[in-house]
Amino acid sequence: MPTIWTLIALLSVLSSTLADDNDTDLIDYKALFGDSPRRDLPFPDLVKYDNYPVEVHNVTTSDGYILSLFRIPLNNSCEPDEGKVPHIFMHGLYLTADDCIIPGPGKAHCYIYADNCLDVWVPNNRGNRYSRNHVSLNPDKDPEFWDFTVDEMALYDLPAIIDYILDNTGKSQVSYVAHSQGVATLLMLCAKKPEYNAKIKVGFGLSTTAYLEHSRFLLIPFQGIAADLMKRSDNTNFEFVAHGSIIQKTGKLLCGLNPLQYPFCSVLVFAALGYNRFQITDETLRVVTGHTPGGTSYKDFLRWGQMRNNGFAEYDYGISGNLKKYGRFQPPLIDLSAITMKWYFISSYNDFVGDVRDIAKLMARLSNVTQCILADKTFGHLDFIYGKDIPNYITPKVLSVLKGEGFPCDGDCSST
Ligand SMILES: *[C@@H]1O[C@H](CO)[C@@H](O)[C@H](O)[C@H]1NC(C)=O
Ligand SMILES: *[C@@H]1O[C@H](CO)[C@@H](O)[C@H](O)[C@H]1NC(C)=O
Ligand SMILES: *[C@@H]1O[C@H](CO)[C@@H](O)[C@H](O)[C@H]1NC(C)=O
Ligand SMILES: *[C@@H]1O[C@H](CO)[C@@H](O)[C@H](O)[C@H]1NC(C)=O
Repeated sequence: MPTIWTLIALLSVLSSTLADDNDTDLIDYKALFGDSPRRDLPFPDLVKYDNYPVEVHNVTTSDGYILSLFRIPLNNSCEPDEGKVPHIFMHGLYLTADDCIIPGPGKAHCYIYADNCLDVWVPNNRGNRYSRNHVSLNPDKDPEFWDFTVDEMALYDLPAIIDYILDNTGKSQVSYVAHSQGVATLLMLCAKKPEYNAKIKVGFGLSTTAYLEHSRFLLIPFQGIAADLMKRSDNTNFEFVAHGSIIQKTGKLLCGLNPLQYPFCSVLVFAALGYNRFQITDETLRVVTGHTPGGTSYKDFLRWGQMRNNGFAEYDYGISGNLKKYGRFQPPLIDLSAITMKWYFISSYNDFVGDVRDIAKLMARLSNVTQCILADKTFGHLDFIYGKDIPNYITPKVLSVLKGEGFPCDGDCSST
């Protein structure tokens, strides 16, 4: 196994450095694996293909990034309901808005929310394939464009998105469903700009990632090492796992032919993110390989290595930088005391990234969280967004809370 881990790490790093100008396939995977008409469609086209309405909005952050914000607006047959608030789905690390539509109508988060007459808004963090824009920086030419981590997503992207949605809809609150890094982003925002607590009616954390000490995701131990090695280097400002990069090609090559190839697929494309062939259907897998990964900054990849090393802590500038900035060798833990908004976490014992022991550690520092650890112990990290049981395990819990009907938990429930 360790050799494969190294291989994956190398592949991911290579994918960030090898330019991939021509989006040609290494082999004719369509002939081999069968194709999906949904595989290569970007978000707006895929939503139209699936027969839902879609809007594209641009949100400019106070530091100049131009983010694509998608919306699946209310369908006319929905009864007006003053009590309802706009509903945000926020994607995780390496990923995009696509995550909430990939499994398709009746199966994917955002379609299920739209079917339940929610006004669905789907942001994209800076740097992913839909948010490679800036008022003055060029992502293809200016390394400064890539000088960001989840800290900037929390302090600039998310507040700009929330305020844009509130402005646009005239509402005073939103509800928020997030996968993985998307949970950490709102935690950091409410910790540092406490006025945002009041703007969130309720948050749902799917596979919450903050502490990563027990994470078995094979890139994460590597990230921890890389974060240490890169402390002295200034050259961390570049794009990472961009859309159309090697991981995607590897996915196209190795996934979907026959069940014997699933182990390769699970290792190479899903990088042992708890990939689960019982949850991710062949059809969903084909669409995943056309959309994943979605790209971010190398610096954010390293930032999560810092979280692995330091806990849910402030940015690590290295010893001398930390002394200057924080007056101590190690960065301090992020102060979470200002977080008052209500969170519901949905977690799983088989989650290799959001390990339940790490989530327990986070919950011990939060005051308003109710958690359900799913009864199905095989549910993995990516199953929260691509799994066939989303309509059975996940969305009913979200919809029930939004209707004021409580948080049904068939597994292990706990509260802070
Ligand atoms: C990419 O395509 C262009 C035009 O089709 C061609 O000139 C170039 O050699 C190709 N580059 C690679 C690396 O295949
Ligand atoms: C959003 O911004 C991009 C980049 O500046 C621009 O190309 C696009 O036309 C804008 N779209 C909308 C809907 O404003
Ligand atoms: C509106 O939503 C209803 C309920 O989900 C659905 O049956 C209907 O097809 C939708 N209508 C349009 C025009 O999208
Ligand atoms: C928890 O959240 C609810 C709903 O927003 C709020 O009414 C309550 O005051 C919060 N409790 C604490 C202890 O912050």
